Amino acid sequence: MSEKVYIETYGCQMNFADSEVVGSILREAGYTLAATLDEAAYVLINTCAIRDNAEQRVRHRVRELRSRQGRGGLRIGVLGCMAERLQSRLMEEEDNVSFVCGPDAYRRLPDLLRGVAEGRKAAEVELSTTETYADIEPVRLASNGISAYISIMRGCQNYCTYCVVPYTRGRERSRDPRTVVAEAEGLFARGYREVTLLGQNVNSYRHGDTGFAALMDAVASIDPGLRVRFATSHPKDLGDDLLEVMASHTNICRCIHLPVQSGSDRMLKMMNRKYTVEWYLGRVEAIRRLLPDCSVTTDVIAGFSGETEDDHQATLDLFRRVRYDYAYMFKYSQREGTYASRHLPDDIPDEVKTRRLNEIIALQGQIALENNRREVGREYEVLVEGESHRSKERLFGRNSQNKVLVFDRGDAQPGTYRTVRVDDCTAATLLGSLTHNN
Ligand code: SAH
Ligand code: SF4
Ligand code: F3S
Repeated sequence: MSEKVYIETYGCQMNFADSEVVGSILREAGYTLAATLDEAAYVLINTCAIRDNAEQRVRHRVRELRSRQGRGGLRIGVLGCMAERLQSRLMEEEDNVSFVCGPDAYRRLPDLLRGVAEGRKAAEVELSTTETYADIEPVRLASNGISAYISIMRGCQNYCTYCVVPYTRGRERSRDPRTVVAEAEGLFARGYREVTLLGQNVNSYRHGDTGFAALMDAVASIDPGLRVRFATSHPKDLGDDLLEVMASHTNICRCIHLPVQSGSDRMLKMMNRKYTVEWYLGRVEAIRRLLPDCSVTTDVIAGFSGETEDDHQATLDLFRRVRYDYAYMFKYSQREGTYASRHLPDDIPDEVKTRRLNEIIALQGQIALENNRREVGREYEVLVEGESHRSKERLFGRNSQNKVLVFDRGDAQPGTYRTVRVDDCTAATLLGSLTHNN
């Protein structure tokens, strides 16, 4: 009988996509993917290093798993960004971890597991300038059979001063566009109706003469019934060419995640974001002009090095001007090895970071609710995804703007498109009903 491996994933969408590649590599090597931890001989924890609390969660989990590790019991491997950042130090600090494997070394996993079975601990953390796993068809672990991730580029070399990703993910590299289109075509043929193209800086995708706008054009041309999303775009690389391609395909979703990080030019400069507030607002204006029904979402950091009350107010002002549909909001967490950890003091007291973060959260909650109230009465085409978490009588799906709509199930089926009228809302969800003209 083949040995079973359980994969647990933390962090961003890229990590979830990587876990599906890992699953495929292991299956190919003769391992079985376990549905639960109880039946597994190995647990692989795919980790995130972006903020200290992400790492603490993983350490806590690793310690908690100790109780399952008697003689011949569960073996633990740590994958992903924390493995890359800490390397063999992680096995010294957490001595119940048997191996670590960084994001570019997943093809080495079958060897690592064999080594562990023979009692050898090891760390595989070499980064690559070429690895994209383009030839590996991911097992769709997280998938509902309707929506899937396609990783199209890896790595980041923007070196925002606060960020650990360039050190954990290595240099940028992009997949051959033909492999991306083939993967999307295969998914559509198997019944999938939505693909999300992923990269740390998805719009700096480039392979030979093919840039991101041309790739999006090719993927969106597969079939108008296949929705195409992408994440995450860096504001500095958001060109009108992409917006024009989006405008020419109704199946490219009207949602752009455009992380701003701060509303203060002084902070943006210290963060090495390579744009100003004015330039960012110009990009938002271009989105509104070329794609009037497009939602805009963001990431923001409160309490970066040297952030004054004025800088913080500038962030709140920017939020009032852009009126984001959604925001991921974080407290600055200093990361070892980054430019900021070497040259910029982590000098904002934690209670000030918390207060500023809470002010941003409160403002954004109010804006999201006001935005959603304006949706009442509108009708949207929704890709039905499944049962609502609260009630079996209701289904949920998303509109092109990536907003979740919940509605009475009627005769709707997951995996199909239906028109839903918005009747009511909360700050997070639109509540609606099926219209019967579809
Ligand atoms: N590549 C994407 C972001 C990837 S990380 C981009 O540049 O837009 C996701 C988010 O985590 C970032 O947008 C940022 O808001 C946040 N983040 C990154 N490093 C952080 C740190 N040291 N402390 C707090 N938040 C951080
Ligand atoms: Fe980090 Fe900046 Fe790269 Fe985003 S662009 S992953 S924030 S270094
Ligand atoms: Fe975290 Fe690595 Fe993604 S640090 S956010 S899992 S690229």
